[in-house]
Amino acid sequence: MQIKKIKLQNYRNYDNFEIDLGQNLNIIIGNNAQGKTNLLESIYVLAVTKSFLSINDKGLIKFNNKFAKISGEITNNLSRNNKLEIIFSDKGKVVKVNGKEIKKLSDYISIVNVIIFSTDNIRIFKESPNSRRKYFNIEISQINKNYLKYLSEYNILLKQRNEFLKVMNINKKSDLDYLDILNDKYVDLSIEISNYRKRYVDDINEYLSDMFKYITGMDGLILKYHTNIDEDKSVFKEKLISNLNKELIYKMTLIGPNRDDFYFKLDDKNLSLYGSQGQMRSAVLALKLSEVKLFNDKTGDSPILLLDDIFSELDIEKRNNLLSTLSNNVQTVITTTDMENITEDIRKKANVYEIDDGNIISIQKNNEDGEVNGK
Ligand SMILES: Nc1ncnc2c1ncn2[C@@H]1O[C@H](COP(=O)(O)OP(=O)(O)OP(=O)(O)O)[C@@H](O)[C@H]1O
Ligand SMILES: [Mg+2]
Repeated sequence: MQIKKIKLQNYRNYDNFEIDLGQNLNIIIGNNAQGKTNLLESIYVLAVTKSFLSINDKGLIKFNNKFAKISGEITNNLSRNNKLEIIFSDKGKVVKVNGKEIKKLSDYISIVNVIIFSTDNIRIFKESPNSRRKYFNIEISQINKNYLKYLSEYNILLKQRNEFLKVMNINKKSDLDYLDILNDKYVDLSIEISNYRKRYVDDINEYLSDMFKYITGMDGLILKYHTNIDEDKSVFKEKLISNLNKELIYKMTLIGPNRDDFYFKLDDKNLSLYGSQGQMRSAVLALKLSEVKLFNDKTGDSPILLLDDIFSELDIEKRNNLLSTLSNNVQTVITTTDMENITEDIRKKANVYEIDDGNIISIQKNNEDGEVNGK
């Protein structure tokens, strides 16, 4: 999958902007605050309909303007071309494919797949388990549509169950048969979700340690899934029943996917607790590259890889290691303030665009774009 062209109108610090991207490595270079992250963000927004940064949709509109528009041309591995468009205004957002408005956002979101690495991702592994669950929910949904279905059913059920616990807390003689029905459904959905998460982590681990080794030279990185769900339905249900008194005190469900967590282990130690910042950064990068591989395995197509500011904190050797692990078949967009000591080999493979105050001031095209762009 690749994005051939992107156009921005009143988007962040851009007025009217257009860029043609190459099918392999694209490097966006520029000083601080020139719009590198904004450009990367716009590709993400076109795919996902919202930013990866904590900002609401209105924040994407250029200051003192009424709307923002992103349009892009996307090709997938079947050479199917789609023109995508997203418009933000006071009235909310509108998405269009080939000129036709799409009402259901979930239909739209499945068209383009992107994987983004940004400094924000590193925070996820330092924050509460909730942000990690959110993160992995999105990642797992990208390759399994059913997962999203189970997850939304689960969320509705969890709410119902929590409401009922509150009722029970006040009225001790509540309908226990109803709780039993909720519990049965709860057990089924929890195990389903847990199995998806387990499988995803196993799949990622097929690649993760190799990727980490490429970048850092270190062995032994694994992703861990922590859960209190029991795979055996009856054991799980018993656990729910025996925990009821505690749940009544807290007025919420204490066992299930809502309590899961994910973490990195390096040399058998929790990386969030014992790892250096650089190791954490490399671990998240390795995770992203593994996600690309996994996505490719599962769907036969590659997502678009967006890497924001990856060079800071990576020493020169690791920069080049990282760049040489990027596969030729994955369209990649990288932002950086400097190309210091990037080897000639890698430069030769890349298109380099220099950005200044929301404009392209120079382009150096080296990609061989013949096949796809030449049509
Ligand atoms: N809604 C907006 N309207 C106008 N300008 C905006 C808007 N949002 C952000 N900006 C401007 O965009 C600029 C930042 O752009 P961006 O974050 O893309 O920079 P960058 O090139 O990635 O910089 P760095 O190298 O520091 O990461 C800032 O000058 C900021 O004021
Ligand atoms: Mg930036």
